[in-house]
Amino acid sequence: MRMNLSRNHEIEWGALRVYEAADYNGMSRRAANIISAHVILHPACCLGLATGTTPIGIYEQLIRWYEKGDLDFAATRTVNLDEYRGLGPGHEQSYRYFMNSRFFDHININRENTHLPDGLAADPEAECRRYNAVIRSLGGIRLQLLGLGRNGHIGFNEPGGAFELETHLVALTQSTINANAPLFSSRDAVPRQAFTMGIKSIMQAKAVLVAVSGEDKADIVARAFSGPVTPELPSSILQMHPDVTLVGDRAALHKLKESGVTVCD
Ligand code: F6R
Repeated sequence: MRMNLSRNHEIEWGALRVYEAADYNGMSRRAANIISAHVILHPACCLGLATGTTPIGIYEQLIRWYEKGDLDFAATRTVNLDEYRGLGPGHEQSYRYFMNSRFFDHININRENTHLPDGLAADPEAECRRYNAVIRSLGGIRLQLLGLGRNGHIGFNEPGGAFELETHLVALTQSTINANAPLFSSRDAVPRQAFTMGIKSIMQAKAVLVAVSGEDKADIVARAFSGPVTPELPSSILQMHPDVTLVGDRAALHKLKESGVTVCD
């Protein structure tokens, strides 16, 4: 479906490609393929990256292709979606630690070209301004990789937030704290705040790649991509982005397919 607001402000509504894989490995491979294509065609591109359980297999696949000599990250620049406030790069649950240990340590990327918000920044507002300036200085994001929170969040943009924000500091919802708690020594150890790119920054990416896996994402995937667009479900705004690819396994996509959304061959 395409919605014309006016000749000069055309919004492509529903410019969504959906690819289905049999399982997590297949999903990871397909998503890694799409990222590879961008890196091969635009070696100095700026990739927007995510943490969480979903992209682990994607990074592993990209590392394998790098080791085979099929990928070269020497000129690639990256910006990550988010970082916990209060955690430094040495903390095992910080997103900087995750990115280094799961991806950057294993490829030939120049560490100075990899960017995350600084969880230890003394002045959060200044840090948000700095991070927005970093994204702009890199010419914006060519491809933004996203996972999907069970409450529909993207980055740490939680339900009810404003669509028009760039990088900002958020209070994590109880559901996100609970979802992340198993990774920490206790629920109390989970940070209560995080820096996140805002929906505006995400929507400004030229292309968006959403990766989803597992039955426990099936409901939210269907609501995000076939239900109403509302700040109560932050990822629903992606329906208005002109270039979104959703890659998921069967378990994560079946409810979206039941709602009538077609899957690419
Ligand atoms: C991670 C991020 C989060 C996750 C989301 C899904 O950088 O911004 O929005 O993508 O919480 O997490 P997983 O993949 O663990 O289900």
